[in-house]
Amino acid sequence: MLTQIIIFGASGDLTARKLIPGLLASHATGQFKTAVQVIGVARRPKSDDAWRAELAEWIEPDAQAGWADFAPRVFYRSGDVRDPVCARALEATLDTLARDAGVEPGQVGRLFYLALKPALFTPVVACLAGEGMLAAPLGETTAWRRVVVEKPFGTDLASAKALNQALRSHLHEEQILRIDHYLGKETVQNILSFRFQNAIFEPLWNSKHVESVEISVCESLGMEAGRGGYYDGAGALRDMLQNHLLQILAMVAMEAPSSMAPDAIRAEKVKVLQALTPLSPAAIERDLVRGQYVEGPAGRGYLDEDGVPADSQTETFVAVRANIANWRWNQVPFLLRTGKRLDGRYTQVVLRFHTPPVDLLNGPVPDGLCALRPNALTLLIQPEEGIRLSFLVKQPGPGMVMRPAELSFDYASLGAATAPAYQRLLLDAVHGNPTLFIRGDEAEAAWRFADSLRQGWLDTQAPVVSYPAGSGGPPEADALFRGCEGIWSRSEAQQ
Ligand SMILES: NC(=O)c1ccc[n+]([C@@H]2O[C@H](COP(=O)([O-])OP(=O)(O)OC[C@H]3O[C@@H](n4cnc5c(N)ncnc54)[C@H](OP(=O)(O)O)[C@@H]3O)[C@@H](O)[C@H]2O)c1
Repeated sequence: MLTQIIIFGASGDLTARKLIPGLLASHATGQFKTAVQVIGVARRPKSDDAWRAELAEWIEPDAQAGWADFAPRVFYRSGDVRDPVCARALEATLDTLARDAGVEPGQVGRLFYLALKPALFTPVVACLAGEGMLAAPLGETTAWRRVVVEKPFGTDLASAKALNQALRSHLHEEQILRIDHYLGKETVQNILSFRFQNAIFEPLWNSKHVESVEISVCESLGMEAGRGGYYDGAGALRDMLQNHLLQILAMVAMEAPSSMAPDAIRAEKVKVLQALTPLSPAAIERDLVRGQYVEGPAGRGYLDEDGVPADSQTETFVAVRANIANWRWNQVPFLLRTGKRLDGRYTQVVLRFHTPPVDLLNGPVPDGLCALRPNALTLLIQPEEGIRLSFLVKQPGPGMVMRPAELSFDYASLGAATAPAYQRLLLDAVHGNPTLFIRGDEAEAAWRFADSLRQGWLDTQAPVVSYPAGSGGPPEADALFRGCEGIWSRSEAQQ
């Protein structure tokens, strides 16, 4: 048996940095269940050897030995993905390569990876389908056909629906794999196993015990490698919050699935995303902050970045106080925050628990002060990977003086390096496991919420506030925590 992985966008950044190294690592560690061939497609003409030489430059020194074995399975064909002639030539090439490997084309599974700009997603699928290259009966296990679609999946609900419709006119839903690389992170997947394999936490995982949930995805990078032009058309809401943050939120807030079957898990995620309350105009002013970085300790401001219009109103930071209107979570604030050029790079989830109903040691808290809120569970997703549970203990000595303490777990202590997200997701795509890919209705539910934020700020003309490059973000975002709820968390390196 043979799997052919066809990468459209062969000469692109994603292919060189993530896809080929991921495929190589899975091959070198014997994780593929079949032999594999990789066929790259892009318009610029080049030979197999020329492409292999380009890719080799991106292979880490410790993977070079594996590359020598893998490179002969890597091929390049030039052509325009919108051209049916190119599709026919590609199919002939795929058949020939299969026969060269001693496998009849009818025994070959094919994964088409769209590492292309989104405007090409529909044309390339239509072109392949027009040539009959995507036809596979439901449940086909040998000569299967699947298509991986990169992000961004649409730019709003309407475009996501249109893209879903276009893809589904040629493919079954089970053939479509919408990628969000955050779901390939070991620590994001661990949210599910941590919650549903440990009975002690689940009874606490609700509004009765959890006072707030924070999800922070902070980046210290700005507009490196000329990304300004692309980013300015997207902004933090569409580039990060709609996908990565809402995917993490869904994993944290979902109900237990009836099984670990892909659709059982994805059905629960969709329900949570559908239960997110759209923000009313009043809530937009109160519960949403958009920011843009200006010159600061980390360098120039966003408007001075290459490719960014001088009058851009695009947000490089967004924070929202969201509500999930279901029985488990209603009225528990989900505080979501993401931004560029912040003072640290980290992704973490913090569940803060209520304080004891009575403070026996200190008595009532004086007016104007807040009780200590000692119990928090922090899920560290990157760069640190681990879990922290904080609480108070008695300071040794006379009297009842309390001090903070922590139980902590680090992935590093398990000794095994966690696989890069793209490696894991490519392996799942090849093996037909869609659990960690976004279902069509999930993408639409996430866009429905993101659109409500965007429409809200357009309608209310909510201002874009500024923050210095290299700071902790706009001070206005601090006010999303109310009263004694606390403050945004810091990374371990910052504490
Ligand atoms: N780069 C990342 O880290 C990253 C991360 C997340 C998501 N993504 C997504 O992944 C996709 C690809 O991103 P990228 O950064 O790799 O883009 P890129 O560097 O601009 O590469 C685009 C590729 O598409 C090829 N191409 C363009 N038009 C074509 C056509 N008509 N027919 C055949 N090939 C064509 C280009 O080669 P030719 O010019 O030779 O045709 C090139 O190989 C995008 O959807 C992006 O949003 C990228």
